[in-house]
Amino acid sequence: MYTELSGKAIALAINKASRSIIADHGIKPKMLLIQVGEDPASSYYVQSIVNTAPKLGCEAELLTLESDCGQTKLLEIVLQANSDPTIHGIMIQKPLPKGIDDSLINLSVNPDKDLDALHPINLGKILMENEVFLPCTPAAVYYTLKYYGIDPKGKKTVILGRSNVVGKPLANILLWKRAFANATVTVCHSQTANLAEICQNADILIAAIGKPNFVTADMVATGSVLIDVGINEISKPDGGSTYVGDILFDACKEKAAAITPVPGGIGRITTSVLYLNLVKACLMAAGQNKVVDEYIDVIFNENQKKL
Ligand SMILES: NC(=O)c1ccc[n+]([C@@H]2O[C@H](COP(=O)([O-])OP(=O)(O)OC[C@H]3O[C@@H](n4cnc5c(N)ncnc54)[C@H](OP(=O)(O)O)[C@@H]3O)[C@@H](O)[C@H]2O)c1
Repeated sequence: MYTELSGKAIALAINKASRSIIADHGIKPKMLLIQVGEDPASSYYVQSIVNTAPKLGCEAELLTLESDCGQTKLLEIVLQANSDPTIHGIMIQKPLPKGIDDSLINLSVNPDKDLDALHPINLGKILMENEVFLPCTPAAVYYTLKYYGIDPKGKKTVILGRSNVVGKPLANILLWKRAFANATVTVCHSQTANLAEICQNADILIAAIGKPNFVTADMVATGSVLIDVGINEISKPDGGSTYVGDILFDACKEKAAAITPVPGGIGRITTSVLYLNLVKACLMAAGQNKVVDEYIDVIFNENQKKL
């Protein structure tokens, strides 16, 4: 019998930590959200971030730019926000329109305000186990393991996908020498040989490749933990659409000890991590940066559902 690892409880626990830190430290964190163009999926996500702000005691200012605003204009805005002391964190919605160099924009954000942890300095800090911000999706996976008491220490942990936003930072987080890390990590990608066989040997399998229902029951070990990062829109026979993960949920759940749903799993946690990063940024600006993990630990211990 499998356990469904719902993201809702984790998101609520992280939000509770953010609210407590804000109340105890008398801070008012403010985020600048920048959206370039009007992609409907991006607009939906960005609006849900904006709507979350008042519930946590934060402020979120949304700046929407025309898709043809140009790279120079975007850079000017980021540089201005970098030096504005009233803005503690910056988030730039991706993907950016053609003609804007993604890596240049990542590099332009002040690393102390980099809520997505995409600046090379912040990615490097993760490598050195000296993290300040954690990228939202890898952090959501880490907190899922921690919340449900699934310790990957010494476990064969396979990550499908090596992107800079998910696979690579997640692999490095799970290699940390601390609780809920210390994993033996294998990272697979489109050039990996014998991928199914590698998956079959995984104690913990994390899929982040963006291929609907790619992982089938014959690829997973009995009693393994399955974490699905993928969010894929697929067409339904009636002409509508729905979202599925990279793991074929109904078939794989029967073999798994635990599995995250899509939707309602990892994706449900990312906005909470984004705000936790904003709280960290605001505390850092006030000269304090050590308290966040302590709050998370206390709240997780109160609410944690151990497997
Ligand atoms: N839950 C969330 O909040 C959240 C956040 C971000 C992303 N996502 C979802 O997570 C998925 C991955 O996102 P991403 O941004 O990391 O994607 P990405 O940048 O497109 O990277 C996909 C990775 O998967 C690998 N891959 C593709 N096809 C493969 C195959 N057949 N076998 C093995 N590996 C394969 C690619 O290999 P190569 O490197 O060799 O090309 C690449 O490393 C997407 O579904 C995305 O929507 C979810």
